[in-house]
Amino acid sequence: MSETIGVFEVEDRTFPPPPEFAAQALTNDQGLYEEAAADFEAFWARQARELVTWNKDFDTTLEWELPFAKWFVGGELNITANCLDRHIEAGRGDKVAYHWEGEPGDTRTITYAELLVEVCKFANVLKGLGLEKGDRVAIYMPMILELPIAMLACARIGVAHSVIFGGFSADAIVDRCDDAQARLIITADGGYRKGAAAPLKPTVDDALASGASSVENVIVANRCDLDPNMVDGRDHWWHDVMADASPDCPAEPMDAEQLLYILYTSGTTAKPKGIMHTTGGYLTQVAFTHKYVFDIKPETDIYWCAADIGWVTGHSYIVYGPLANGVTSVMYEGTPDTPGKDRLWDIVERYKVTQLYTAPTAIRMFMKWGAQEPASHDLSSLRVLGTVGEPINPEAWMWYHDHIGGSARPIVDTWWQTETGGHMITPLPGVTTTKPGSACTTIPGVFAELVDDDGESVSNGGGYLTITKPWPSMLRGIWGDPQRYQDTYWSRFEGKYFAGDGAKLDDDGYLWLLGRVDDVMNVSGHRISTTEVESALVDHSSVAEAAVVGGTDDVTGQAIIGYVILRGGNEPSEALGDEIREHVGVKLGKIARPKTVIIVPDLPKTRSGKIMRRLLRDVADGRQLGDTTTLADPGVVAEIAERAADSDED
Ligand code: PRX
Repeated sequence: MSETIGVFEVEDRTFPPPPEFAAQALTNDQGLYEEAAADFEAFWARQARELVTWNKDFDTTLEWELPFAKWFVGGELNITANCLDRHIEAGRGDKVAYHWEGEPGDTRTITYAELLVEVCKFANVLKGLGLEKGDRVAIYMPMILELPIAMLACARIGVAHSVIFGGFSADAIVDRCDDAQARLIITADGGYRKGAAAPLKPTVDDALASGASSVENVIVANRCDLDPNMVDGRDHWWHDVMADASPDCPAEPMDAEQLLYILYTSGTTAKPKGIMHTTGGYLTQVAFTHKYVFDIKPETDIYWCAADIGWVTGHSYIVYGPLANGVTSVMYEGTPDTPGKDRLWDIVERYKVTQLYTAPTAIRMFMKWGAQEPASHDLSSLRVLGTVGEPINPEAWMWYHDHIGGSARPIVDTWWQTETGGHMITPLPGVTTTKPGSACTTIPGVFAELVDDDGESVSNGGGYLTITKPWPSMLRGIWGDPQRYQDTYWSRFEGKYFAGDGAKLDDDGYLWLLGRVDDVMNVSGHRISTTEVESALVDHSSVAEAAVVGGTDDVTGQAIIGYVILRGGNEPSEALGDEIREHVGVKLGKIARPKTVIIVPDLPKTRSGKIMRRLLRDVADGRQLGDTTTLADPGVVAEIAERAADSDED
């Protein structure tokens, strides 16, 4: 098996759904699983017709020409009509769509009817700038309401959005805008993080000064009164363009396969992949999973996904899923430790949050901060707790269960990816007996298989996770690169989608995700490519060669460790190492800055010249790693050399 599949520890605690929860749950038996197993296409067709409102019904549920899928062929719908208009037409326009909470403590509440007005106005602004169905728009914003408004406005008129996480650099903006040929960037002057206004607009300016020549206009929302530089004719204030915009913008029916968005994610090469999602299938699966995995009761629930919309979790489970299901959501701008380490629990208490969806890395941080933080708040409104982004260790699962869930709430550990669009492997809270650390089983209508190196099925033990049948919210490809789509996902194992993760199957048929088996790191639930960081390291004028590995980190899961060899004429020093780390921060964005840079005289390689990353990972894990530069001491080098001698990764 692959080097990254670690030691599997048997976890034998089990947690059946609490009987009082199961009694009132939307589903509490095997019915959906049985229905989907009997005929998965018929199952998804039923969900599509029940959960989605179509302008024109589809003729064919699935057209599958491996690896290219079309779902709900012939169907027409508008995703924003599903997220907004139909709730208003049903008399629920006054229902709150979002309780938005700014980091400094300011709040804004927007109803479904008010949200529709904003979306229509902004859609008319986009039209006024000449944007048309099929165009692409980049969005680089903080967690403010203008962000979902901008996304929905694009979707209303068939413009594909490409949201770029606010922590990314100017270079990252250029790469993404160039690749997608974005005509517009929607941004803000800044957003509040950790108690201060963090500027965003200057990064957009830097990007436009160096590239992104397809961008014709920039729209800037004013969040922090930062008074950014505004370029005449190119840059427009959000409030100015919205002032006279008409609130009348009918939802035009779109083909089920109309491109909804592109979201870039890191792969094993230096170039991020533009993952494409389309309308009908995506909406069906995110609405289905949001409803059943979180047991959503729109009349009474207050749902909160504490992710950032810059990642797929926010696309599917802050914007499209919750709005399609007509629930009230909380949306929070800032960091969980501002102004105090109980910020999340204060929000849960004040809004009486019923579902909380967060990441294992956040839970481990809360554990460090101590149980007294949640204990000082009334969390009794919570009904379901969710996690996403990385494997959750059983201790973190138990802490979440005991200290946030009062030992009485179901936990849904949801495995999925940017590429899958929606949940794939997760318990259903009223049905599944959970085990701490296991994402349990595939959802109804999704089918997984673990295989060994030869593609042979593994019925018990470790293997590569594959998905064996198409699913509605699957990626439709990589923007501009169908060959890469085929090669990355569909070539390793014939006829199967290769997810890039290792997993273990236990005797009860439960899946235990073990992390990536490729050169992708998972830092705080964010995917970062080792190759991308290596390219940024060697981009520094003093670096000759670099190797990057994900070391183990108590809080972030993995931490980026960079080993670098200096070019001749450079003396190793802590200052130089820090400069190199900073360089990566500037090239890729802060989230990709290595935690530690280790300056080494040489890198261990196989006879064929492949860097022995496993060895470097072992070395990294054997050391105390700080936010620093470490000069390789002779001991490390000797250790590397010694291990290289008796190991071969070919
Ligand atoms: O390795 C898996 C891990 O995150 C990867 C997908 O990352 P991304 O596309 O950024 O999407 C993250 C949010 C959906 C997967 O290949 N991953 C995600 N959720 C889990 C997980 N690993 C284990 N358990 C999970 N629940």
